[in-house]
Amino acid sequence: MASRAWNPCSYLPRRLQIVASLTTFLLFCLLFLGTSSPDDPTTYVNSVPFGPELRTGAHQVVDRLPALPKVPYMAPPTWLNPFSSPAHTPPPEQANSSSGEARWYADFKWRNPFSSSTTLDEERAVLPPLVERPPVYTYFDAAGRRKDEKSRQAEQDLLQVWRRAWWAQGFKPVVLGKPEAMNNPLYRAVQGLELEAEMETELMRWLAWGNMGTGILANWLAIPMAAYDDAMLSFFRRGEYPLLVRYESLESGLFVGSKIWIEKAIKEAIANPSINTTKTFFEAVPPATFTVDKSNTAIAFYSTANLKAKYPSIREKLSSATQIADGLAMLPPLINAHLHSTWQNTFSTGIAILKPSPEKTTSLILPAIDLARNLSQCATSPIPASCPPNRPKCKPCVSSTHMPITVATVFRNTSTLFTIGTVPHPYTLISLLHSRSTLDVKFIRRETARDSWTLAATSELIGSGQSSFFRLPALKDAVASEYGRARSLWFTAERPPRGDSEKDAEELDWHFGFVIPREPLDDGRSVTPVPGPERRPPPPKDEFGDGPRPSSSDLKREIAFFEQARLFLQRSGRSSSSSLKKLAGGGGGKEEKAAVQTRGIVEAWNLADTEVWKFVRAWNARLRVERRGWEEEEEDFLGKGRFAKWVDRVI
Ligand SMILES: *[C@@H]1O[C@H](CO)[C@@H](O)[C@H](O)[C@H]1NC(C)=O
Ligand SMILES: *[C@@H]1O[C@H](CO)[C@@H](O)[C@H](O)[C@H]1NC(C)=O
Ligand SMILES: *[C@@H]1O[C@H](CO)[C@@H](O)[C@H](O)[C@H]1NC(C)=O
Ligand SMILES: *[C@@H]1O[C@H](CO)[C@@H](O)[C@H](O)[C@H]1NC(C)=O
Repeated sequence: MASRAWNPCSYLPRRLQIVASLTTFLLFCLLFLGTSSPDDPTTYVNSVPFGPELRTGAHQVVDRLPALPKVPYMAPPTWLNPFSSPAHTPPPEQANSSSGEARWYADFKWRNPFSSSTTLDEERAVLPPLVERPPVYTYFDAAGRRKDEKSRQAEQDLLQVWRRAWWAQGFKPVVLGKPEAMNNPLYRAVQGLELEAEMETELMRWLAWGNMGTGILANWLAIPMAAYDDAMLSFFRRGEYPLLVRYESLESGLFVGSKIWIEKAIKEAIANPSINTTKTFFEAVPPATFTVDKSNTAIAFYSTANLKAKYPSIREKLSSATQIADGLAMLPPLINAHLHSTWQNTFSTGIAILKPSPEKTTSLILPAIDLARNLSQCATSPIPASCPPNRPKCKPCVSSTHMPITVATVFRNTSTLFTIGTVPHPYTLISLLHSRSTLDVKFIRRETARDSWTLAATSELIGSGQSSFFRLPALKDAVASEYGRARSLWFTAERPPRGDSEKDAEELDWHFGFVIPREPLDDGRSVTPVPGPERRPPPPKDEFGDGPRPSSSDLKREIAFFEQARLFLQRSGRSSSSSLKKLAGGGGGKEEKAAVQTRGIVEAWNLADTEVWKFVRAWNARLRVERRGWEEEEEDFLGKGRFAKWVDRVI
């Protein structure tokens, strides 16, 4: 009875007791989970703010923030929140997750408006998990190839074209050689066979593939030639191949399959008594071994048969014994031009250069205009106006009708439009918009609009009347989703790709999968006369968007402010990682402290713009790290001499 008096719920019927206890528990949780006050700057660090009232809330926080720069993160006492411990420790550093000042954390929560709600760190952006690249193998045996210098060079270039194109479509291209084939336990069984030369190479290819396992086996003249989200390429990218598939129109150009089926097929071929009279692998095995796919939308196979049938000028060369090398040398520029025009066909609406503020920001988009003009150019081709073998109905690039380039004030989600986005740091944007080389707290708070870049860029996509925080997931989606990344290229205004830097140029080529033209074509170097005046396309007519045209002196002034802002960001950034420690320890120059503080204020005032900027910075840094890491891996192979036969210079 005593316990009854103590627990008031026990007077209720049993079911109501449960309901009442649950309600009490929920109320309890709500009370304690919601205890942090809006004055606490960690409030929006810990929770994901959403909706207009939170935007106001967060901005109030900024308004009242006296101790700038950012207050170091302090975990709230854990007893306050029963669920706190896992959520409130910053997630561990992942391998290779930084480059320069950019740091990131890969997580499925990347679409949340604010990275810091996951990483508890203002400088660490949350990116989508890195997508595993399925391997694409090709077999290249330098020993069996032609020996003259010209052919050798052409073959090296072709392998490079092959690697670049597959990489850009989301794969990990791997060149295999005889060592991989010899590594296969079945190699001994093959050695005892008397085979035709073609069949011997075929078997070696398969042995090398079987040694690696599940994946795609492609001839090094089988090139992906389609939009990124083509159904066939999307299927390949999934990396799971339950059946052994060959494609009717590709002959031996491309197979996909998993390890056990590859092994089984090789065993079947070896066991076939008439293997010494067959020339192709798929004829040497029972027909049921392969599932035959009749469609092929994505792969261009420059097989001898295709070359002879489709490109008469190459056919001529290939049929004369003395000119085979010349014919081979035509292939790399031809394939590159096909890859480029396929890309141009995919984006039939053209290229949009994002410039949300029509006024005073022309200097920010100059690199984007430069790149867009190069992309819209026609590539040098030995057979101009030809189509790739898998797309006979293509629209070849002709210089009289260039791809349209527009300067857009808003981001448009059009599937056939390629967007080049340039995201300025809010400090840069403010100094340009207000033509000021120094900013102070008073000025920032009284005179500048918040998150103006984000609000303007998404004003059509999201409509007006939504908070800038609400807009962040859409912008992140446009940068980094499967769909978005294939249709756009983003960079920060302060670190645009520089056309004159070899590294950046190469980075861009690998991103697009073809070598972007970097010279105007009117230098008479093209192999055959090209139709029409070959010129670099002019800059877009509405280069300045809807805004007034800056005079050249205005533009010069603008560039000077931009340069100053860039220097400021370098200065305040280099120290920012250690700045808090330094400030705490009383170290660091006075100026440096002031710079770090000002930057902190600008970033806190423009939370959404800063978030986009950091997201894009980290996104690009990770792309670079991923590719360089892979190149280093490949160099390890080069070092072992495996590729020494075909690679003279380290790529
Ligand atoms: C193929 O091999 C079989 C035995 O392995 C042999 O009898 C036959 O003559 C060979 N055919 C040719 C064309 O070499
Ligand atoms: C753009 O459109 C595609 C398909 O309609 C959609 O999946 C994607 O989420 C959209 N992206 C943005 C940023 O709205
Ligand atoms: C674009 O082409 C021009 C030459 O026409 C070159 O100077 C510039 O570096 C190229 N830019 C990029 C980004 O490729
Ligand atoms: C990535 O991290 C791994 C393990 O931490 C390391 O072996 C590798 O060299 C790193 N790669 C790059 C490109 O930094």
